[in-house]
Amino acid sequence: MPAPAPRRLDSAAGTVYIYDEPGPACRDAADQIVACIHRAVAARGRANLGLATGGTPIPVYRRLVDRHRAGECSFAPVHTFNLDEFYPMSPCDPQSYRAYMHQRLFAPVDLPANQAHVLDGTVPEAAVAEHCAQFDRWIAEAGGLDLQLLGIGRNGHIGFNEPSELSVAEALALPTRRVPLHPMTTADAARDFGSTESVPLTALTVGVAPILAARTILVLAFGARKAEAVAGSLRGPITAACPGSLLQTVADRVVWLLDEPAAAGL
Ligand code: GLP
Repeated sequence: MPAPAPRRLDSAAGTVYIYDEPGPACRDAADQIVACIHRAVAARGRANLGLATGGTPIPVYRRLVDRHRAGECSFAPVHTFNLDEFYPMSPCDPQSYRAYMHQRLFAPVDLPANQAHVLDGTVPEAAVAEHCAQFDRWIAEAGGLDLQLLGIGRNGHIGFNEPSELSVAEALALPTRRVPLHPMTTADAARDFGSTESVPLTALTVGVAPILAARTILVLAFGARKAEAVAGSLRGPITAACPGSLLQTVADRVVWLLDEPAAAGL
């Protein structure tokens, strides 16, 4: 039986679809990614995807792999740029986002290894700024992101762009860089790392500016624990204190896929 159609909310902050369950939302997200790949490849011979990690998009990657195995989507012309990585972090560490992506998408599909970009948590401290600037240049030289897949932190972070006291103009201009992790982010990551002390103190994150420059932004949020961040992002003022609210500045390019508990504050 097909899943019931999601409820659509048209808001000045973006287009919002509310699903009964996360499963169909993730399926739709994956299908939109496949459609985007096909459109971009038809138009320009390649597709550039910004990808997210965390628990939320895992079923999206499962569905992308299924569609690849069904012969419905080749990743040969796809170039991927991941949102973030802990720092310091070895790509061999199972907690690294490189390992996450390798396991869930890169290895199971036909994505050429030299087209899968993840910020490198092993670069020496003195080279971090240049590495991050290089990452932004790679995205720009690739022609910009056709689609950015996003999750959201409980504190409203996007990538690892954490809440701050910056002005909106300063926050919108943030490039890819090294950032300290917010205590709430560290607490959430502690579940995967086994303890708070094992979570790296900093991370590398694609900046707000390159995220918002994507031609389409798909934001996924599920569960009651995300309700406050979702409400702050969609209903609250545009402020660096809730980085998700910065998405309102490009509302015509943003689609939110939520379940009912995550949408409870709308
Ligand atoms: C993590 C990641 C984000 C992710 C968010 C939500 O810390 N840096 O990119 O979107 O937090 O994670 P989850 O999907 O596990 O709730």
